[in-house]
Amino acid sequence: MITKISTLGGYLHEYEKSVADPAKFWSKIAENFYWRKNWDKTLEWNFDEPKIEWFKGGKLNITENIFERNLFLRARQKAIIWEPNDPEEECRSYTYDELYLEVNKFANVLRDMGVQKGDRVTIYLPMIPELAVAMLACAKIGAIHSIVFAGFSARALAERNNDAKAKILITADGGFRGNKVIPLKETADEAAQMAQDIEKMIVVKRTGKEVNMMKDRDFWWEDLMQNASPSASIEVMDAEDPLFILYTSGSTGKPKGVLHTTGGYMVYAAYTFKNVFQYSDNDIYFCAADIGWITGHSYIIYGPLLEGATTIMFEGIPTFPEPDRYWKIIEKHKVNQFYTSPTAIRALIAEGEQWIEKYELKSLKVLGTVGEPINEEAWHWYHDHVGKNRCPIVDTWWQTETGGIMISPLAGIIPTKPAFATLPLPGIQPVVVDKEGNMLEGRNVEGNLCIKHPWPGMARTLWGNAKRFKEAYFSTFPGLYFTGDGVKVDEDGYYRILGRIDDVINVSGHRLGTAEIENALNEHPLVAESAVVGFPHPIKGQGIYAFVVVPDLAPDIHDELRNSLKKGVAKLISPIAKPDEIRFVKELPKTRSGKIMRRILRKIVEGSTDFGDITTLVNPEIIKDLTEN
Ligand code: WTA
Repeated sequence: MITKISTLGGYLHEYEKSVADPAKFWSKIAENFYWRKNWDKTLEWNFDEPKIEWFKGGKLNITENIFERNLFLRARQKAIIWEPNDPEEECRSYTYDELYLEVNKFANVLRDMGVQKGDRVTIYLPMIPELAVAMLACAKIGAIHSIVFAGFSARALAERNNDAKAKILITADGGFRGNKVIPLKETADEAAQMAQDIEKMIVVKRTGKEVNMMKDRDFWWEDLMQNASPSASIEVMDAEDPLFILYTSGSTGKPKGVLHTTGGYMVYAAYTFKNVFQYSDNDIYFCAADIGWITGHSYIIYGPLLEGATTIMFEGIPTFPEPDRYWKIIEKHKVNQFYTSPTAIRALIAEGEQWIEKYELKSLKVLGTVGEPINEEAWHWYHDHVGKNRCPIVDTWWQTETGGIMISPLAGIIPTKPAFATLPLPGIQPVVVDKEGNMLEGRNVEGNLCIKHPWPGMARTLWGNAKRFKEAYFSTFPGLYFTGDGVKVDEDGYYRILGRIDDVINVSGHRLGTAEIENALNEHPLVAESAVVGFPHPIKGQGIYAFVVVPDLAPDIHDELRNSLKKGVAKLISPIAKPDEIRFVKELPKTRSGKIMRRILRKIVEGSTDFGDITTLVNPEIIKDLTEN
């Protein structure tokens, strides 16, 4: 197990060591794990190709590091506590040895279906324990899991499956979210018509609703598990063998299949989990994210389970049946560390203080946030009302591509400051650069956030698209990993993340590419073109504002068309991508080369008239039109 940093001096010392000799630093941490064969070389890299290899030549299996290590120490300790959507339904929990047997059984199911090392498996499941079992079973046999958030549409699911070329899709008859039933199997069936690679579907029974099962293609999870043997061998993996693909939105084109590999991701997820949250044996840890996103991968499953934690998996939403559900769960399970998003906090603030006041939440020691910048008001509310002024807040900045937390306080060790992610973790070397790529050294600077040295948890490539990987992250500022975020470093050297500076918007902590939403809008037969920008939203952080050009639009169909466009986006991507505002315009502001000037649209949405340099606009007269209406 990883030894925690326990003092500020300890942090500074570790940080210094990690910069002086990164390979030596990470090699010492990697020694805490179980390797079938030790690595020959700790790090080989360049950011030009780019090529990043950690623990080269090392052989291991991540599930052996979860189970064999923890079975020895804590076989009967709960690994996962599952809290269902409906509080009246019984919780299910799995001890380490129980989870181990389930994973073995499902590993055998997958093997019997012909799944082999390197094959991709798409998982489209709600937050039920089978999701954890499925992902770990993939890892056990060396199959690459690609988890698709269960809120995504058939099209989005098909698009991801077509890219990963997975032959097996794991889904459920449905899912519960608040008072809604999500028809996952129907969506999966629709996706399968657009995703020709899918040969077999494994379906978990969750809602009991009748679904269509196609003969020889669809199989019930429960039936397959019944006869499966509870012992299974691991696949011995190279440190750099792929562990999973996770799709995320970029500023252009289709979602990107971010690829993480085995050894480095394992070391980084465990190290950051233990240190940031200061997890101690027997603590109960609750991350309220969904496993469909990176936060759930690294901080519900891999990080906590590697370190022998008890991790809570919650199926529902914070406002069901009432807006005190999180506090109820914290009291019921005596949660010690709680990790959620600023959006959830803001939504709960809006529900009123009466929902939290009656809870003492005595068990809490650490609070965390992730996914988007946290505003000061939300930070203080979280600190005062949830943490009762006694729990440090870890504002953790990171990304799907970084695999784990990069800039964050270590709970109780690094003094916090509202809205600041504070300092880089050991091993992380952030730099701030201006538009031209000049390094802005020292304090009191603001610019683009880049990282200048590799860390073990970083993405290695984009699935099947090394060229795009290079273009997206290593070309804007050659020699540096570019995060896409703006940052400010204050007089104490503390980092404050300002948000995306590319065409990505962050809605309720979900990353969405403006191009993806525009493509969906443009599919409507009446739409000529569209442009989407983010705007400040009191709960969601950012809302989605769409400017849509519809030639010869009759005034009486405005509302109807707005509704139909919103529905269309929900159907093509997901309800989370639905525009909040749609404005019909005659033209979009464009440069001579035909590029939409989103900068101007952003200003208009903010109500600002300071448009800066507009000499490159081919249609400057449009501005008058846009500001008058
Ligand atoms: C944003 C989520 C401010 C940021 C783990 C980043 C944050 C994007 C924070 C990645 C934070 C994440 N403060 N902004 N603490 N954490 N972000 O890939 O813009 O879903 O680039 O990973 O979320 O989103 P992703």
